[in-house]
This record gives sequence, C-alpha cells and structure tokens, in this order.
Amino acid sequence: MANKIKVDLGLDSYKISMIDSFVSSILHVASSTKSQCMLISQDNIYKLYKEKFDQLSKLSNISIHLIDDGEQAKSFETITQITNKMASEHFDRSSIVLAVGGGVVGDIAGFAASVYMRGIDYVQYPTTLLAMVDSSIGGKTGINLKSGKNLVGRIYQPKAVEIDINFLLTLPDRQINAALAEAIKYGFIYDRELFDFIASSIDNIIENKSIKILEKIIIQCCEIKSDVVSEDVNENELRMILNFGHTVGHAIEGYFDYRTLLHGEAIFYGMKCALYLSNKYGNLSNNEYNKSLYLLSKFDLPSVSIEDYDKFMTYIKSDKKIRASNVKFILLDEIGKSQINDNISFEQIIESLKVL
Ligand SMILES: NC(=O)c1ccc[n+]([C@@H]2O[C@H](COP(=O)([O-])OP(=O)(O)OC[C@H]3O[C@@H](n4cnc5c(N)ncnc54)[C@H](O)[C@@H]3O)[C@@H](O)[C@H]2O)c1
Repeated sequence: MANKIKVDLGLDSYKISMIDSFVSSILHVASSTKSQCMLISQDNIYKLYKEKFDQLSKLSNISIHLIDDGEQAKSFETITQITNKMASEHFDRSSIVLAVGGGVVGDIAGFAASVYMRGIDYVQYPTTLLAMVDSSIGGKTGINLKSGKNLVGRIYQPKAVEIDINFLLTLPDRQINAALAEAIKYGFIYDRELFDFIASSIDNIIENKSIKILEKIIIQCCEIKSDVVSEDVNENELRMILNFGHTVGHAIEGYFDYRTLLHGEAIFYGMKCALYLSNKYGNLSNNEYNKSLYLLSKFDLPSVSIEDYDKFMTYIKSDKKIRASNVKFILLDEIGKSQINDNISFEQIIESLKVL
C-alpha cells in the first residue's frame, strides 16, 4: 500500500500522505519556518481535540483561528478577518497556513493563503471523509456569493495534504455516509474495481464504519483524484468528469437553501438522475443501471421532492458548467467509464427528477 501519493503538477507538485498524528506533522511543518503560522479550524473540532490544539498553541509561532461552522463561513468577511489577523501578527511570505478541518475550513484557508501577500504556503489536514477523498486535493479554494456557491475563488495548490484518519473516529455517521457519495462517484466515473470493492463491503461500511476499509477507500480515491487533477488542473476537460452527479446535485442543494441536505446527500440524488439519463439517453445498460441503483439504495437519505421546476432550473442554469445554455453533462457509458455529453436538454434534466 502506497502511503504517499504524488499530485504531479510540475513546480506545484505535492504529496498526499497517510500520517499517524496531525500534531507531529504540524510541529514539523511549523518548525520548518521562522515565521508565524496560522492554524485555521472550527470550534467543534477544537473542542473535540482540545488537548492536541493546546499542545500546538504553546508553540510561539502558531496562532489558532477558528471560523464559523457551515456554508455562511465561506464569505469575504471571514477572509477579511483572517488576513487582517495575519497582517496584525506580522505574517510574512514565509508564513504557513494549516487548514485543520473539513471542506469549509480547507476552502477558506486555501483562499486566504492564496491572496495574503499574493500567496503563501498552506497545508491541508482534512478532518472529514469528504475532505479526505475530495476537497483537500486539487487546489480549488473559494467562497460563496448570495447568487451561488464557490463563485469567487482560485485554484491554488497546497504544499501537502496530510491525512490523519483518526479524525474519522469523531465524525458523525451522517457525515461519513454522505461523503461516501463522492467515493462511489470515483468508482462510477473512473474505477470499476473501486465500485466493486465498495459494493461488496457496503453493509459492513454503513454498519461498522471500519477504519481499515475506509482507509483503503480513501487511498484509492486520492489516487484517482490526483491522477485526474494532474492531467487537467484547470478543469478544461478530464477534471469535468469529477462533476458526475453534481449538476443536479448542486441545484438540489440550492433549491433547499443548502439546509435540508448535506452536500454528499445531494450528490446521491444528482447521481441517481445522471444514471437515469445515462441509461435512457446514453450507453449505460439496464444491468449496470440496476446494479448502480442497488448500491445507492443502501443509503438512508432524507426524502426530497422538487415541485417548483422553474426555481429548480434557475439553479441548473447558474451552474458554472453551463455555457450559453449548453449543459456539459457527465454520463456513464458503463460502471468505471464516463463521458462528457453536450446533448442533454433542460427538459431531460427535469424528466430525470422523477427518480428522486
Ligand atoms: N475544494 C474542493 O475541491 C471541494 C470539493 C467538494 C466540496 N467542497 C466544499 O466542501 C464543503 C463541505 O465540506 P465537508 O463535507 O467536509 O463539510 P464541513 O467542512 O462543513 O464539515 C462538516 C461538519 O463536520 C464538523 N467536523 C469536521 N471534522 C470533524 C471531525 N473530525 N469530527 C467531528 N466533527 C467534525 C465540521 O465542524 C462541520 O460541522 C462545501 O463548502 C463544499 O463546497 C470543496
């Protein structure tokens, strides 16, 4: 088992590592600079790991900054607070940002690092399964605007992604189940073996949350994401396949004001719609379609129903992947193989909502 995976981006290359202790790693990173470091996290993570955070805050060059929980933290206001604090504490170009949290912390910390003094180093310490398999890798950073999620941001790569899997021991089951949507997505779009592995161990995963099995899944997902990002960092073509289930998923999240569903739960629904379209209008066979639906049916999701199609379509139309009313929709040809399709119409997307 490789415990270091390279994201190969020339001068911006970095490694994803499975580590035993985030504290030792941070002590090592902080001692590599004489400048100030900022550890960005959230109150509930701080409370769960208080002793460890306190140990780190004793270091004279680490200051801890806690941001709010939830999507509302991904704002200009949070970035202003962080960068003002950096300036008042004399952060310089050799300072390092340490992002200890889920996707919200990672997106904010990465964006703050990317703009402070036109860019300082940051290291990702993902604490949620979603961040371990997805958001900490690839350098997408950013904040939300009233008109949509992640509308302001940069692609700015971290110096390293350090995964301490023990964080999952405190993560609520609902968060773990939701993040499995992203892991299953990698199986759908890219890796039939991963799909088969998850399908064969799904009951065990859902009931026991075995760290050993999750670790195997995380490593495979990191390998896939790093392959895809290494080939297409700016999402010109290949990286788009990572959006499988996301066009409808994001619209469902928006439709419910980002409150009813976790991101991964919305992606489960988005993938159901994308599978329906792949079967009805693409190449996905009935057999593969049913196999895929069977795996998704193992997850107990909050029920949703979309009645206002006009409202729903405003979210579809504001998707960053829509260019001049042309939807770039990701369809499956078979499990493990995907395509970017230009021919899915708005009407067909609405038709697919019947599988929710
Ligand atoms: N940058 C990217 O490529 C990318 C990709 C996918 C998603 N995202 C973004 O990621 C965000 C969602 O991330 P998320 O699902 O990690 O949610 P999150 O960051 O909101 O974390 C979910 C909750 O879990 C708590 N938490 C975190 N770690 C914990 C732990 N170990 N134990 C207990 N509680 C813990 C958090 O405080 C929070 O309350 C969204 O904003 C989304 O836009 C970014």
